[in-house]
Amino acid sequence: GTVQLIGVPLDLGASRRGVDMGPSAMRVSSLVRQLERLGIVVQDTGNVTVPDRSALDDSPTAFLDAITGVCANLAQRTAAAVRSGVRPLVLGGDHSLAAGSVAGTATALHERGQRTGLIWLDAHADINTPVTSLSGNVHGMPVAHLLGYGHAPLAGLSAASPAVLPEHLVYVGLRDLDDAEKAFIRELKITAFTMRDIDERGLRAVMNDAVRIATTGTGGVHLSCDADWIDPQEAPGVGTPVRGGATLREAHLAMEIIHDTGALVAMDLVEINPILDSRNATAELAAELIASAFGRHIL
Ligand code: ARG
Ligand code: MN
Ligand code: MN
Ligand code: MN
Repeated sequence: GTVQLIGVPLDLGASRRGVDMGPSAMRVSSLVRQLERLGIVVQDTGNVTVPDRSALDDSPTAFLDAITGVCANLAQRTAAAVRSGVRPLVLGGDHSLAAGSVAGTATALHERGQRTGLIWLDAHADINTPVTSLSGNVHGMPVAHLLGYGHAPLAGLSAASPAVLPEHLVYVGLRDLDDAEKAFIRELKITAFTMRDIDERGLRAVMNDAVRIATTGTGGVHLSCDADWIDPQEAPGVGTPVRGGATLREAHLAMEIIHDTGALVAMDLVEINPILDSRNATAELAAELIASAFGRHIL
């Protein structure tokens, strides 16, 4: 098969600077070599254009509007890739980009009369709206927009409208939620596996449930992986580290279980912050995990 790399050097959704360098860090990692070793054809289509922070005016929705523009372009690119049978691999950039990447996947599947499953690997739920957010950071809001809430132009990017239904979304790895996010997850009856679930049941049992939920009644799965779902001891180069995350082995097993479904149609790898990393270790780890998601076997 073919994988299409799409870089999104976006940091407008985060308060800490540096995640805009994530695509570069991923490109200098072993990522392409690892995918090619699996027999995958890798097309690098370069970066989506992102406006400079200094070019934004100080209106209340300046950041939301700029991110909406980036996400609209990104959605067109992921939709075109999925439509032509190519799997997009979106390299972030902050997690607000997922409001576009997943919207595009959902548009392409919608054209085939299918819904989109979404597996969200993250320490955070990213389900705030501009109204509930305590930080104002848009990287804490993409899930709400994919479900049809929040800033209407950003929530309306997918032909699937909303891009994702709550019953097709599943979280894995949560450990840092705002009160409003907890309430919203309960209200929408979203399946959310926290680190406690992984501790108690083990990664395999949790992940088997996750892939069942994301594949039931859908035409495929979009995997949105925030590097901070992994423990910061393994993945220090992230903007919003939270201790107590997935181990290296748990993270690989999660990717392997997703690969085994055969349902992976698109993937995001976001929130790598090279400024906070040591010798690109987090990007290298991400490259290895991506290889597992795309079919690397130990034996
Ligand atoms: N819940 C917090 C907020 O809304 C943290 C979000 C962190 N998100 C992320 N993609 N790293 O600001
Ligand atoms: Mn996160
Ligand atoms: Mn996130
Ligand atoms: Mn295989």
